[in-house]
Amino acid sequence: MAEIDAADLTDDQARDELARLAMEIAYHDRAYHQKDAPEISDAAYDALRRRNAAIEARFPDLIRSDSPSRRVGDAPDTGFTKVRHRVAMLSLDNAFNAEDFTEFCDRARRFLGLTHPLAIVAEPKIDGLSINLTYEDGAFARGATRGDGTEGEDVTANLRTMVGAVPDRLIGSFPERIEIRGEVFMTKADFLALNDSQAAAGQKLFANPRNAAAGGLRQLDAKITAERRLSLFAYAMGESSEPVADSHAAYLERLRGWGFAVNPLSRLLTTEAEAAAFQDEIARQRATLPYDIDGVVYKINDLTLQRRLGFAGRAPRWAIAWKFPAEQATTVLRAIRIQVGRTGALTPVAELEPVNVGGVLVARATLHNEDEIARKDLHIGDTVIVQRAGDVIPQIVAVVTEQPRGAEAYDYPSVCPACGSLAIRPPGEAIRRCTGGLICPAQRVERLIHFVSRNAFDIDGLGEKTIQEFYAEGWLHGPADLFKLPEREADIATREGWGKLSARNLSRAIKARETIALERFIFALGIRRIGEANAKLLARHYGSYPNWRQQMLAATTIGSDERLALGSILGIGPAIAEELAEFFMERRNVAALDELAAVLTIEDAVMAEAADSPVAGKVVVFTGTLETMTRPEAKARAESLGAKVTDSVSKKTDLVVVGADAGSKARKAAELGVRTLTEAEWRALIGD
Ligand code: IVH
Repeated sequence: MAEIDAADLTDDQARDELARLAMEIAYHDRAYHQKDAPEISDAAYDALRRRNAAIEARFPDLIRSDSPSRRVGDAPDTGFTKVRHRVAMLSLDNAFNAEDFTEFCDRARRFLGLTHPLAIVAEPKIDGLSINLTYEDGAFARGATRGDGTEGEDVTANLRTMVGAVPDRLIGSFPERIEIRGEVFMTKADFLALNDSQAAAGQKLFANPRNAAAGGLRQLDAKITAERRLSLFAYAMGESSEPVADSHAAYLERLRGWGFAVNPLSRLLTTEAEAAAFQDEIARQRATLPYDIDGVVYKINDLTLQRRLGFAGRAPRWAIAWKFPAEQATTVLRAIRIQVGRTGALTPVAELEPVNVGGVLVARATLHNEDEIARKDLHIGDTVIVQRAGDVIPQIVAVVTEQPRGAEAYDYPSVCPACGSLAIRPPGEAIRRCTGGLICPAQRVERLIHFVSRNAFDIDGLGEKTIQEFYAEGWLHGPADLFKLPEREADIATREGWGKLSARNLSRAIKARETIALERFIFALGIRRIGEANAKLLARHYGSYPNWRQQMLAATTIGSDERLALGSILGIGPAIAEELAEFFMERRNVAALDELAAVLTIEDAVMAEAADSPVAGKVVVFTGTLETMTRPEAKARAESLGAKVTDSVSKKTDLVVVGADAGSKARKAAELGVRTLTEAEWRALIGD
C-alpha cells in the first residue's frame, strides 16, 4: 500500500493510523524485549516509529495516551525482581544520513545559543542490550536490565558470572555510589559456537547474537548465563554521588581505569565535521569486527553542555545514533525448497534470484517454518525484500506488494519431499516432521553426516559432500557401511578429487575410530534430544553398551521399571525417555545398532556412582534438623547417588530420613508405611 504523506491525511485517517501504529509497535516491542524474538527488521521497526512521529508532528492533538513516542521498549517479563532505575535509562534518537546528523548538531547549538562547532565522542553502536551496574563503596552491588526505561529486572547473579567483564571491585579512586551503563553482547564467534552446540543438542537456534545475549542474561539459572560467554562494553553514566569527569572522553578514561572494557574504536572528534568520515571508516570495518554493530553513537563531549541540553521525550538532546543503512535488497522469490533434517524436521528455504546485498551475493534465505510463509503471504514469483544482518543467514523481510504478485500462495507439503512419507505437524508445534524415519533418504544422509561429525565419530576426510556422494553411489545404507569403506579404497582413489594417498588416509581415519567411547557412540546415533550432555548421562548411568541396549529395549514398555528408571535419571526426564523408547521401538534402528556393534569396540564408560548406589532411583525426603550436614548438602549428596529428593511425603516416597524435632512428615511416613531412617542409618546406608 502506498503511504499517504502525513500532511495529506484527514483527521479520521490520522486517528486510525495512529491507533494501528500504537498497536503494531507495542506488538513488536513485546516480541523484541520480552520474547527476544523480533519479527521485523530494525529498519522496518524504525520506519513504523518514524511514521508515527511524522503523523504526531502534524496532528499533535491526536497524540494518544499510549503513544509509542511516550514509551521506551516494553515492560519487563516476570521471573526476576524488579528494580527501579534511579536515573531513567532512555533510548537514542536515530539519524539515517548526513543531513539528519547535521540537523542534530544544529538543533543542539540552537538550544544552547552557541555558534561554534561541537567536540563529539563517537562510539560504535553495539547491537546488544543495555545494562545498569550499581557500585557501592567500589563493590559491584546490583545490576539490572533496561526494561521499560524506568524499571528493569534484577540480573545481579547473572552479571556476577561475567568474570572479567563486570568487575567485582572498581580499581583506584571512585565515588561512594555510582551507576555505570553499558552494553552486554555476544561476539560473533561465541554466537556461532553456541548455535553449533544448540544444533548438536537438537535445541532451538538463536536468530542473532543479540537474542542469544538477551536470552543468556535473562536466565533464571545463573549457571546457564555463565556458559553463554557474554561480553560488555561500558559507555555511559547513571547516578553518581560525586562528579567523576567533565567530559565524556575523560569519563571513558575513568571507566577504563576502574577496570571496564571501553570500545577501543571510540574516538574524540574535535569537530562534528569529522563525523561523516568516521561513519564511513566504521562502516568499512563492520563486517570484520568481532561483534555486531548497527551504527555509530555520537555524544557531545562536554558534560556541562550535556546537562544543559537534557532530554526530550525518550531520548537525550546530546546524543544521536547514526544507523547504517540496513543491508537490504529487492529480488524475486524463485522457489521454496524443503530441506529434511536428521530428525525429519521439514525446513523451508527460499531460493532467490541471486542479488548483491551489502557486498555479498545472496541466493538463499531462511524461512524458519510453514507459519512464517503464511504470515508473510509468500507466493512463488513475488518480489521480496531480503536482508542480511551481520553474519546471520539472510532473511526475507517482506513482499513488495506494489509489484505484480506471484501466481498463487505457496502450498506447504504434507508429505516428505525426500521419501513421500506423511509429514505430520503435532498440535502446538511449529515444525512438521517426516514420519519416514530410516527409510527416508534425506534423514539417512543427515544422520550419517551427524554420525561422522566432530563430537561424534570425528572421521577426518568425511565431510558433508563426500557422504552425499558416497550415499548416491549406493555405498552407504546405514552407519555400519562407513566401516566398510576401507574395502573400497581402490575405487575411492580413482574418484575425482581423490588419489591413492587421500583414499589411504580416509581408510586409516575410519579404522582409527573402530574403537569408540560409549558416550560418543550414543551421541553419534543422532536420536532426537540426545545431545552430548544427555549421551554422557546415559553412558555414565548404564556403563556398557550391552547393558544400555538391554535396558533401553526393556524401557520401550510404558510403565516398566526400566522406563521409570530411565525417566528418573537426573537431567533425562520422562519426555526424553519417551524419545529413546521410540527409537528402540523401531526394529530397523535396533538392527542398525547391532550391525554397528558387530564391527566396533565400544568402550565402557566410567559409571556414575549413582548406578550402583543403594539409593539410586529412590525417592527420598529429609525432615527435621540434621546434625552432621546441612539440608542442601544432604540433598546434593543424595542426588549425586541417583536419588530423587522431594519435599513432601506421599505413597511414591521410598525413604524418609528423620532428623531431630521432625513433625508431620515423620507422622505421615508412619501412616503410609514408608520406611524411615535416622540420620546415622542413612549415612550407613550410603556408606558415608
Ligand atoms: S548511550 C541516554 N552508547 O543503543 C543514552 N547506547 O538505541 C544512553 N547502545 O539503549 C545510551 N551502543 O542499548 C549508548 N555506545 C553506546 C551504545 C548504546 C549501543 C544501545 C543502548 C541504547 C540503544 C539506544
